[in-house]
Amino acid sequence: MKRLGINIDHVATLRNARGEGHPDLIDIATIVKKAGANSITVHLREDRRHINDNDLKVLCHKNFLINMEMAANVKMMKIAIRNKPKFVCLVPEKRNEITTEGGLNLNKNFRLIKKIVSTLNKKKIRTSLFIDPTISNLILTKKIGAKCVELHTGKLSRLVKDNKKFAKELDKINKCSYYAKKNNIELHAGHGLDYKTAKILSKNPYIIEYNIGHFIIGESIKIGISKVIQNFKKILR
Ligand code: PXP
Repeated sequence: MKRLGINIDHVATLRNARGEGHPDLIDIATIVKKAGANSITVHLREDRRHINDNDLKVLCHKNFLINMEMAANVKMMKIAIRNKPKFVCLVPEKRNEITTEGGLNLNKNFRLIKKIVSTLNKKKIRTSLFIDPTISNLILTKKIGAKCVELHTGKLSRLVKDNKKFAKELDKINKCSYYAKKNNIELHAGHGLDYKTAKILSKNPYIIEYNIGHFIIGESIKIGISKVIQNFKKILR
């Protein structure tokens, strides 16, 4: 069975827009869990633009299976150790980016990433690396000793959404998947996924976990808004 992790960062974005408590992150995490999500992903960004330290603390202590996305640095590693999420996914982070734009540069940050992965693994926090789908990244993953990667599917998703040819990008993902499987690296995928791209990737037997955020939150508004309007119509009758 494939696992589905739901990224709830954008629930926090919406909450923060008013600086108050609605929508409540714990309420949403509870609904997400009840609906069958296998884990809940939150990205504690350096600028805390959506999820904040208290969100992470409360979510981890309430026994949700939290996948904490974080930049690969010692300060973040210490926060992860303090909160003990079940999983960590190391991601590159640029302050001005709208979302995670690409995968980690494993070559450049080899020693630091290796140290963080080994420290977190010792603390029993499964740690994955968010990488662009290339074989060289997987070779470095092995050298680093990470047991798990998440392939960045942003490029594939963009091509599919723009109705452009995506066979070459899909082939890259498939080749990486096969390599990962042969080398005992657990394979996840995420970024930019919607129904269409998820369907395309679902044919790949080696990807066992998907992490999806923006589309799910957007689609939930589309599906849920008429129900909320009906509630108000009843109240205001
Ligand atoms: N996986 C990783 C590592 C990410 O950084 C993100 C975006 O925060 C996602 C998955 C989810 O991407 P999206 O919100 O586009 O579904």
